[in-house]
Amino acid sequence: MQIFKQILNTTCRKSLMKGQNINNIRKMSLDSTKLEITKTTTPKEKLPNDQLIFGKTFTDHMLEIEWTQENGWGVPKISPYHNFSFDPSTVVFHYAFELFEGMKAYRDTNNQIRTFRSDKNMIRMNQSAERIALPTFDGEELMKLIDKFLITDESFVPQGAGYSLYLRPTLIGTTASLGVGTPDKALLYVIASPVGPYYGTGFKPVSLEATDYAVRAWPGGVGNRKLGANYAPCILPQLEAAQRGYQQNLWLFGDEGYVTEVGTMNVFFAFKDSEGKKELVTAPLDGTILEGVTRDSILQLCKERLPSEWTVVERKFTIHEIEERAAKGELIEAFGAGTAAVVSPIERIGWKGKDISVPITAGDAGELTTQVAEWIRKIQYGEEEYKNWSRVAK
Ligand SMILES: Cc1ncc(COP(=O)(O)O)c(C=O)c1O
Repeated sequence: MQIFKQILNTTCRKSLMKGQNINNIRKMSLDSTKLEITKTTTPKEKLPNDQLIFGKTFTDHMLEIEWTQENGWGVPKISPYHNFSFDPSTVVFHYAFELFEGMKAYRDTNNQIRTFRSDKNMIRMNQSAERIALPTFDGEELMKLIDKFLITDESFVPQGAGYSLYLRPTLIGTTASLGVGTPDKALLYVIASPVGPYYGTGFKPVSLEATDYAVRAWPGGVGNRKLGANYAPCILPQLEAAQRGYQQNLWLFGDEGYVTEVGTMNVFFAFKDSEGKKELVTAPLDGTILEGVTRDSILQLCKERLPSEWTVVERKFTIHEIEERAAKGELIEAFGAGTAAVVSPIERIGWKGKDISVPITAGDAGELTTQVAEWIRKIQYGEEEYKNWSRVAK
């Protein structure tokens, strides 16, 4: 009995390390070696690079894995891109049992297909799943399956700087029932859309409205998880900002006016004090911030590569600090950071009926913004190998 308990404990610990629920250990775990591939007989025509619109056209195939409470993860399948058919009572439609990831695959100069820090997306996807009682899985197994999907639809990965194949891993609860409870069925699927550079030529600096009347995320909430339910409520404030001439919301939190994120990106501000000391700041991961892969990459690269007059910090900062330091000439740059655009320069912030101007020193972006974009691009496209951040699909 004692020995049996020990074995069970070791199995539990191993499963948890791999990101699996204790409940799942007797059932099938996600197994990439079971993959079945059915190729399309009606391949789609590929669009030329200049006609690619984000998330509008998709590749020939998709990856799917069903899960049931009873049996665990089923046989992974790559099959022609298709519609779903679900009972109208299915929980995803009623109680937002849905989470997703956003990542990209890049074609390098040797025609290999690469993903950027996809291990981070797998960890975040499991954290999102855990938060809404959907099944977790072995992230490396899903990445092996995504690699096979990428090889199947390899011809859709566009060539050229800024071009990539956007990947959308998604997990939904598929139990057909209006009862609010833990889904006993789920579907993990991945679709892919060829995309062009976020900004056609060079950068386009954006204007933000500092938003305090609507809140994106709050302590104890789910803003640090990539749940679909976090996104729909942000559209109305964005439309309101647009009516006043601003493209995105700068999401504030609390009476203090803490700066959290911008639109669907993390946000960085750069200051220079009267002694010439420079500081790159982003909000700390306090549960209200999505743990962006780009954010983490920028923090690591800047800490390692910026000259000694810079400090790179995660700390709380407010719209009042930005306003005051801009007035003193100490605000030197600001940019959003996320997979879609990598970095997105900010040129002005509307706050209490006035605009705070952010200097744009190098064409359409600040020098730091331009530098950071280039550091990341080189790693994404395999021009520079750095800390195993780029994974070649095999
Ligand atoms: C709310 C939010 N914040 C930040 C990010 C940036 O995250 P990442 O760099 O992983 O794309 C995203 C994009 O996925 C997001 O939706």
